[in-house]
Amino acid sequence: MSHSHRRLFQVFLFVLLLAASAVADSTLTQSRPIGGDQKLVSPGDVFQLGLFSTANNTKWFLGIWFTVSPAAVVWVANRDRPLNTSSGVVALSGRGDLVLLDAASNNETIWSSNSSTLVTAGAVAQLHDNGNLVLADAAGAVLWQSFEHPTNTFISGMRSGRNLTTGALWSLSSWRSADDPSAGDHRYVMDTQGSPELHVWSKGRKKYRTGPWNGMRFSGIPEMTSFEDMFEFQFTNTADEVSYLYHDRDGTAVSRVVLNESGVMQRMVWDRRALAWNSFWSGPRDHCDTYGLCGAFGVCDMGDAVVCGCIRGFMPGSPAEWRMRNASGGCARSTPLQCAGGDGFYVLRGVKLPETHGSTVDGGATLAECGRRCLSNCNCTAYAASDIRGGGTGCIQWFGDLMDTRYVDDGQDLFVRLAKSDLEPTKTKKFVVVITAVILGFALLLLLLGFMIWRKARHSKEVTMFDEIMRGECPTYDFGIIRAATGGFCPKNVVGRGGFGIVYKGKMPDGQEVAVKKLSAENRVQGLKEFKNEVDLIAKLQHRNLVRLLGCCIQGSERILVYEYMSNRSLEAGDGVAGGGLEWPAQDGRRRGGPT
Ligand SMILES: *[C@@H]1O[C@H](CO)[C@@H](O)[C@H](O)[C@H]1NC(C)=O
Ligand SMILES: *[C@@H]1O[C@H](CO)[C@@H](O)[C@H](O)[C@H]1NC(C)=O
Ligand SMILES: *[C@@H]1O[C@H](CO)[C@@H](O)[C@H](O)[C@H]1NC(C)=O
Ligand SMILES: *[C@@H]1O[C@H](CO)[C@@H](O)[C@H](O)[C@H]1NC(C)=O
Ligand SMILES: *[C@@H]1O[C@H](CO)[C@@H](O)[C@H](O)[C@H]1NC(C)=O
Ligand SMILES: *[C@@H]1O[C@H](CO)[C@@H](O)[C@H](O)[C@H]1NC(C)=O
Ligand SMILES: *[C@@H]1O[C@H](CO)[C@@H](O)[C@H](O)[C@H]1NC(C)=O
Ligand SMILES: *[C@@H]1O[C@H](CO)[C@@H](O)[C@H](O)[C@H]1NC(C)=O
Repeated sequence: MSHSHRRLFQVFLFVLLLAASAVADSTLTQSRPIGGDQKLVSPGDVFQLGLFSTANNTKWFLGIWFTVSPAAVVWVANRDRPLNTSSGVVALSGRGDLVLLDAASNNETIWSSNSSTLVTAGAVAQLHDNGNLVLADAAGAVLWQSFEHPTNTFISGMRSGRNLTTGALWSLSSWRSADDPSAGDHRYVMDTQGSPELHVWSKGRKKYRTGPWNGMRFSGIPEMTSFEDMFEFQFTNTADEVSYLYHDRDGTAVSRVVLNESGVMQRMVWDRRALAWNSFWSGPRDHCDTYGLCGAFGVCDMGDAVVCGCIRGFMPGSPAEWRMRNASGGCARSTPLQCAGGDGFYVLRGVKLPETHGSTVDGGATLAECGRRCLSNCNCTAYAASDIRGGGTGCIQWFGDLMDTRYVDDGQDLFVRLAKSDLEPTKTKKFVVVITAVILGFALLLLLLGFMIWRKARHSKEVTMFDEIMRGECPTYDFGIIRAATGGFCPKNVVGRGGFGIVYKGKMPDGQEVAVKKLSAENRVQGLKEFKNEVDLIAKLQHRNLVRLLGCCIQGSERILVYEYMSNRSLEAGDGVAGGGLEWPAQDGRRRGGPT
């Protein structure tokens, strides 16, 4: 090619590019590349594709952005390989690839879509109103699309997840800095192991989990339910695809979800009046969302000043580190699992489910069946419903450590396997109370018994004493004689009832009339001292003004005193000790201040 020809060709190219820019088009064909400040504009002018620069125009990138907000770049082609100038040309290559060429560097290919299918003619790239740049062949079959290659932003209708057939991953990586769209330290990836969930990784370390999808929302983002007036969430979990996406609802503001340079998922909503993006939601949401903050079998609670605790049945693995507020070492089981029949489940309520990476999921099982399965497998450490709808169905079983569990509003129930002895501390408490009561009752009983024995001993001692006194102080009468004398203690012979018992009138075989006092059992002991005094008095003084004690009788439990009977002639004249009523003389006498 001669110099003039080349010159001519460059002019031709320039005219071609001008023509393209004059009619802002949404499509790119093999015969119509774009370059410089030319753009593809989606049919409804929602999105634009073109070159943009950062770092004071020193780096140039091919990107897609919102027309209303060019700074809100949603996709970047050559993020890892910037152009030095705005000399880039976007074209369709001869084999049907979408390419970014550097016109200043001999049309070097800076970036290529690397479509797998070879299309020599008829390929078309179009920017759609949803922000998707689609490369299709002449028949309309999609060869490549930008939605399948997210950078740091999800927008309405864009999937995150994985094509399980091809292994293709739809994930995000943050920009390195606000000036540098190259892949930074943070990634946002769907973990398809166990019950799928989204993870944020920073510098190769897991930093945040959304929690598994529970049929309605991510287990760790209960507030998603309250966003449903603005966004429609869609989760797909099939044999060849695990994905999550959202749609902005018709008539609501446009939104985007960005993994920003701090490693935070930031949902932003466009405020049409303020012409600005409002931060709507971000995750991690708080300290407890930091992955593994409380370690294995720990549970994080923002409502607790200490934040980290252990699930019931577990204790801090390293108490010293826990005291230093480093709980990442997690918790250890208090009592080893017993496995066969010796275990049960503690229900940890209202939580974001622990990491499901090593868990198994069976969406078809019932929760009850899930519990049976877990109990029958000694390696199963916990289970939960995989779908919270309809009271909870499906089955997730965990087999190792329970990582990154935390309390959330409107959280789920997690059934944690524990040895039976660690279960139901309320029962243990009851048990303790019962035991204490039993011991206390027993002690009381013993005390009572001791008291009774003591009383009985005292009682019998007193009785013995009494009997000795009686024997020592007065002549003994035969019980049979006394019984005969009173007509067998006939009630008609009762002449009085005194404090010490009943007094009968009787007649001795020799014809002597006597007063027989049968002491009642109770009074025998109560008045022991007084009685002894009386007996002493009566027996020893034998004062003529006093009733004379003739004798005593002890027979079995009976204690009987025999007095001289004083008919009519009472002794009121004297002390009135034994009046006609035949009250027990001593007693009455005492009461009246008798002889002392
Ligand atoms: C951008 O470049 C211009 C000219 O090259 C220079 O004057 C200016 O200070 C630069 N701005 C920044 C922020 O680097
Ligand atoms: C940009 O310029 C630097 C040096 O100025 C050079 O090394 C690099 O290859 C250039 N990049 C491109 C894509 O032209
Ligand atoms: C650069 O690429 C454009 C578009 O494909 C093409 O028209 C042009 O001839 C190329 N220029 C050079 C120098 O190869
Ligand atoms: C396309 O393929 C080339 C060569 O294999 C590779 O260097 C490049 O990174 C690929 N581009 C993309 C966008 O995957
Ligand atoms: C996954 O890849 C297979 C094979 O390329 C394709 O048929 C299927 O449509 C893909 N699924 C999705 C959701 O892209
Ligand atoms: C990332 O998002 C969080 C939450 O909105 C915000 O506090 C932080 O400043 C953001 N970081 C950057 C680099 O924009
Ligand atoms: C916290 O504890 C873990 C293990 O328990 C240890 O590896 C880590 O270094 C500790 N972190 C700090 C900041 O002390
Ligand atoms: C339990 O785990 C051990 C060790 O990982 C394994 O050998 C055994 O087969 C497992 N048992 C069941 C029932 O899964």
